Amino acid sequence: MNIQQPAAKVNWATGNLEGKKVSKTVRKLKHLEGVFADEEAYSSMDPETVVYEVEVLEQEQPGKEGGLLFGTSYLYPGKVGDEYFMTKGHFHEKRDRAEYYWGIRGSGLLLLMDEQGVTTAEQVFPGSLHYVPGHIAHRLVNTGSEVLAVGACWPSDAGHDYGSIADRGFTARVKESGGKAATETG
Ligand code: 6PG
Ligand code: NI
Repeated sequence: MNIQQPAAKVNWATGNLEGKKVSKTVRKLKHLEGVFADEEAYSSMDPETVVYEVEVLEQEQPGKEGGLLFGTSYLYPGKVGDEYFMTKGHFHEKRDRAEYYWGIRGSGLLLLMDEQGVTTAEQVFPGSLHYVPGHIAHRLVNTGSEVLAVGACWPSDAGHDYGSIADRGFTARVKESGGKAATETG
């Protein structure tokens, strides 16, 4: 029998993925136009500021039915005005596709919004496990002072629908108020 190398190596303390099929996406402030409420604060910041990075093990081609993708997101600490750094957020393009998230490092919130615009949040911390059902938009928010690293596993054909979020946003925002994270709806 021929013993093969595994698909990749994961550093479970940091989330870092290492392997031939690992791709990396960097999202800077300049890629997040319209995401944060305070446009004045947004335009006064360096557009090259890295907000988050995503490593994905593309063992299967994205889009392939039946496969799974596996990734780690690294969301840096920071704020635009008083609003914490967050991901763009999305529904899956194939709406019924679910996903698991788990906290690795740092602390934050996972915002979950249904198609009627009802948003809930779950606390993210090392060891937290989150099930994101289909038809639910998801966005990570870093409310801490260190990097928030979160693992994820989702179907290869899920895709991303960023458009609906760009049009309507999430119905809740997470801002610092009196030194603490507070959610604001509406
Ligand atoms: C996915 C996952 C996850 C997500 C990143 C970045 O479906 O691919 O939810 O890998 O893409 O955390 O978030 P955005 O895709 O919203 O920028
Ligand atoms: Ni997703």
